[in-house]
Amino acid sequence: MKNILHLKSSIQGAASYSIKLGNAIVERIQDKYPGSRVDELDLVAMDIPHLNPLVLQSFFTPADQLTGEQKEAIHLSDTLVKQLFAADVIVIGAPLINFTIHSSLKAWIDHITRAGITFGYSATGPIGLVNGKKIYIAMSSGGVYSEGPGAANDFVAPYLKAFLGILGMTDVSVFRAEGLKVPGIKEVAMERALESIEID
Ligand SMILES: Cc1cc2nc3c(=O)[nH]c(=O)nc-3n(C[C@H](O)[C@H](O)[C@H](O)COP(=O)(O)O)c2cc1C
Repeated sequence: MKNILHLKSSIQGAASYSIKLGNAIVERIQDKYPGSRVDELDLVAMDIPHLNPLVLQSFFTPADQLTGEQKEAIHLSDTLVKQLFAADVIVIGAPLINFTIHSSLKAWIDHITRAGITFGYSATGPIGLVNGKKIYIAMSSGGVYSEGPGAANDFVAPYLKAFLGILGMTDVSVFRAEGLKVPGIKEVAMERALESIEID
């Protein structure tokens, strides 16, 4: 039995491929681990704010010195961090938007990246404090980035792996629905993505 956190960041609603792929990954996890429960976060609908000076200052203020305003400013971040720690498995829907992730997913990342809570500093660099999680990334893209000429612009998978690694989440599998706008590929892209799913 696993606690699954499914993050969605598509702006295409019911037509979203990353959500379909993410849902398929969740189903496969539930098949393998009966009784698993899922928390779904629609990051686009949540409209998570950009980091701002008040939030940043509050992040770096000791908990017993936070003002009411500062507590309020980081309440969402605290909630997102709790959800993160409560999950055993995290499925991250990552549609490609202008060569990178959607800003809603970036906003989630900014709010869960907390010095002293999700990562620490050491003489040899940052140390991840979010350990023991399995991460599945459900990517979707109009183009193909896993191979061929587009591979030079494959920014999302390396970025997410690097970022997750800093927080201690190093067990990452990436599945891609790619070439969704490429004639000759788009017809089979989703089928290929679904067939590629492997659950640990
Ligand atoms: C605003 C916007 C920007 C996009 N930028 C890219 C891009 O840079 N590269 C790419 O391969 N596909 C791009 N696409 C295509 C999406 O990646 C594709 O539609 C994918 O299915 C989006 O995921 P979703 O179906 O889960 O929403 C873009 C789509 C939109 C709407």
